[in-house]
Amino acid sequence: MTDRMIKLNDGHDIPAVGLGVFLSKEGKEAYDAVRAALDAGYRHIDTAAAYGNEESVGKAIADSGIDRDELFITTKLWNDDTRAGKARQALETSLKKLKLDYVDLYLIHWPADGWLPAWRDLEIMKDKDLARSIGVSNFQIPHLEKLLKFSQTVPAVNQVECHPRFPQHELKRYCEERGIRLEAWSPLGGSRKGQSLREDPLLSDIAAAHDKSVAQILIAWQLQRGVIAIPKSVHADRIAQNLDVFDIEFTKEELNAVMTLDDGWRFGSSPDTFTF
Ligand code: A2P
Repeated sequence: MTDRMIKLNDGHDIPAVGLGVFLSKEGKEAYDAVRAALDAGYRHIDTAAAYGNEESVGKAIADSGIDRDELFITTKLWNDDTRAGKARQALETSLKKLKLDYVDLYLIHWPADGWLPAWRDLEIMKDKDLARSIGVSNFQIPHLEKLLKFSQTVPAVNQVECHPRFPQHELKRYCEERGIRLEAWSPLGGSRKGQSLREDPLLSDIAAAHDKSVAQILIAWQLQRGVIAIPKSVHADRIAQNLDVFDIEFTKEELNAVMTLDDGWRFGSSPDTFTF
């Protein structure tokens, strides 16, 4: 049995599984996905300014009637605003769209030029309680080394691409040693056809042995190694299924077998070469 809540280095608790909404379309699609997630028991929603769906996410949260203190909402500072030195304005815009007074977690989305001054802005936003926790996304070890050299505030999380084909062992170890919690984006291997982990035969066998889906195995695997997961779906049945993962216990053999899938396959952009 893995824990539903994870304690961050600043004392705040984050639900170990959240709904990701990257590629969930602004309007009915994102709104319905968030409502379905909240109905299914999710209390953690992960969006970003760049996803273009903060208004639908905010409306779904408001319409749910769930107490604000029960929810954990993440959004992210987009690269244009990082480069322009407009972190404070960007967070205010996000809060307005989300109809919130604060976010639970504000992340620098990518290490775009200007991220270090942006981090200082995030520290101020945390002090002002506009963001309860602050962190980074898509940061490599050299970015984190620089950040820790120039700042006293250790990021609460680093959200990165992470799944069995790209498990981020070294970055995970580095983060763990410094109290930074790893968060996995695209824990299901993303949405591109033909590259999916969800059809992997080895994972299918493990899923069958547990009477679960491969998606559930992929999420539970992250939880087992202490990584927060934010699977994305726009289907209510899958959304509910992706939260029903806390009872999965892997055998040593299964964990060793999953390790063999690591082939360094990164399907998303690299933080060292991204061009947006
Ligand atoms: P959909 O949104 O149509 O349900 P990731 O979180 O790794 O980016 O993966 C998201 C992809 O996985 C989306 O294409 C999503 O499709 C699909 N997906 C999410 N949950 C499940 C599930 N339980 N079973 C199968 N596919 C899923």
